[in-house]
Amino acid sequence: MTIPVIAIDGPSASGKGTVAARVAQALGFHYLDSGAIYRVTAYAAQQRGVALDDEDGLARLAAALDLRFDGVEVWLAGVAVGDAIRTEEAGRAASQIAALPALRAALLQLQRGFRKAPGLVTDGRDMGAVVFPDADLKVFLTASAEVRADRRYKQLIEKGFSANLAALLQDLQERDARDAARAAAPLQKTADAQLLETSNMGIDDAVNWVLVAYAKASSQA
Ligand code: DC
Repeated sequence: MTIPVIAIDGPSASGKGTVAARVAQALGFHYLDSGAIYRVTAYAAQQRGVALDDEDGLARLAAALDLRFDGVEVWLAGVAVGDAIRTEEAGRAASQIAALPALRAALLQLQRGFRKAPGLVTDGRDMGAVVFPDADLKVFLTASAEVRADRRYKQLIEKGFSANLAALLQDLQERDARDAARAAAPLQKTADAQLLETSNMGIDDAVNWVLVAYAKASSQA
């Protein structure tokens, strides 16, 4: 029997990470935040002087990443980098390197290694389309850009960061455009993914929606 995977893809700040983590918790599954891997790679590159357009250098760096997840904390070579990789600047850098095919290829095995019993819930841009094409359930979770900017704003303020709503909205729209326009694994809803529009939906309802969809998918398998 293969290990079940729930793939939740969608644009920046859609809330997919929160929903995915809560679904994983409810099912007792592992959770992988694939965006964090792109963020850590960009962060490591900046630390080590690898240019963000040096495709081969980034791919080499990615293949040798000493990365560990522990709850919400992310460790790079034994150093906690959770806060450093959550900034808007880190998100932009991640989106920039994510357009490079050799880097994406170098991260494939690393991501697939997180598929462990009893199951995995993962979120990103191409988890259903590329990394886990045989996922048991694929969800494309989205919300309007305005709602997402508002969610990101509240999240940043809550964490004690300063934030500007208009700048966040512009940043999100630019990042979505870049993630959707790239040739390698662009952000898009695949035909086999179920659409979950959360502009008018709270976290609890979104989590329940995914749990119900998964129960349905597994009973049909
Ligand atoms: O989900 P996030 O905002 O943490 O992701 C940061 C960037 O990483 C995002 O703008 C695009 C890239 N990314 C990707 O290309 N593929 C993934 N599976 C996850 C993230």
